[in-house]
Amino acid sequence: MVVSNHRPTRVVVDLAAIKANVQQEVQKQQGKRDVFAVVKANGYGHGAVPVAKAALAGGAAGFCVATLDEGIALRENGLTAPILVMGIVEVAWLPLILQYDLAIPVATNLWIEEARAFYQEHQLTGDIAVHVTFDTGMGRIGFQTVEEVLAAMQQLDQTAGFFVEGLFTHFATADDVDFTYFERQNERFKQVINQLPYRPRYVHGSNSAATMWHEDQGNLIRLGIGMYGYNPSGSALTNPYPLQPALSLESALVQVKQVPAGEGIGYGKTYETTVTEWIGTVPIGYADGYVRRMQGFKVLVEGQVCEIVGRVCMDQLMVRLPKAFPVGTKVTLIGKNQGNEITLQEVADYLGTIHYEVICLLSDRIPRDYLNSEGILT
Ligand SMILES: Cc1ncc(COP(=O)(O)O)c(C=O)c1O
Repeated sequence: MVVSNHRPTRVVVDLAAIKANVQQEVQKQQGKRDVFAVVKANGYGHGAVPVAKAALAGGAAGFCVATLDEGIALRENGLTAPILVMGIVEVAWLPLILQYDLAIPVATNLWIEEARAFYQEHQLTGDIAVHVTFDTGMGRIGFQTVEEVLAAMQQLDQTAGFFVEGLFTHFATADDVDFTYFERQNERFKQVINQLPYRPRYVHGSNSAATMWHEDQGNLIRLGIGMYGYNPSGSALTNPYPLQPALSLESALVQVKQVPAGEGIGYGKTYETTVTEWIGTVPIGYADGYVRRMQGFKVLVEGQVCEIVGRVCMDQLMVRLPKAFPVGTKVTLIGKNQGNEITLQEVADYLGTIHYEVICLLSDRIPRDYLNSEGILT
């Protein structure tokens, strides 16, 4: 999608907040665990490269991404710290893994066999760092039993071109008020850790929620949502320490008009003015990831709450204003505006989803602007 710079709609990312959130986690670990910044999905919609740089400044030791291409993009933008691709990568891409010095997960014996054959057949050179993945109860990727994990490690140790850099699991309910299932998964993880023939460089299970409300035996935290400043549980559990939200979504009024009573607003005429009303148009819509179900929610204009009236269009939406604001007046869809605030959590709650989804849906059409440590746009 073409980035639409010539329009007032912007995601504004406070890089100092990202840095501070990482710094806080790094300090909490007191050198016992490294922190890898999870910058998959374009840094949860914030922009992977600027986020990665801010995370490094906050003390992150490496990065996690979901796909090979996300890892390559970081390398091509000059980031040299360790990168773990967390999703399964086809063996056909092993040359790229070597070229870009990425670590990858290993989740099945079939993959090990195919990777060994591919490596030999294509006469590859160099060592590929792999993280053996243990599915302790997420049901997503990984070996399913302690025995399988240990056997896979043995296999890999005997396979030229591969070395076990890590062992990891992923917790399904670390953000839940009920700790039972977390503890069951963690118990399985402990079982394998206790039987390891040697400890790989990285042993890891913790995402943001796990590091906030639990402890595992790993030496690496995969910090995602907490780094962006959001409570992983939404509002189910209380943050043990404050986080600084990094993202705002802003636009501006592009037209303001008085509409007489009885007129329809938007497709389907789902809203009709009851009296003479001031209606403002904001250039953001569902093609920007600001979805149709936001109808009836609110924006802030000069600190005042204004309802989104009528259907959200592909590129525009309409709001009911308390008075005639001038064209160009700032509109805040997420974030602070003159002493008032719309939190990302409120948006997620309105949509009946999680905040992760809201920020990941903000499309590439919206430019990302960055505030530096002085709060100045860079
Ligand atoms: C394997 C894995 N680790 C870590 C994370 C980061 O999780 P969070 O953003 O909750 O910290 C994710 C994100 O979904 C993940 O899939």
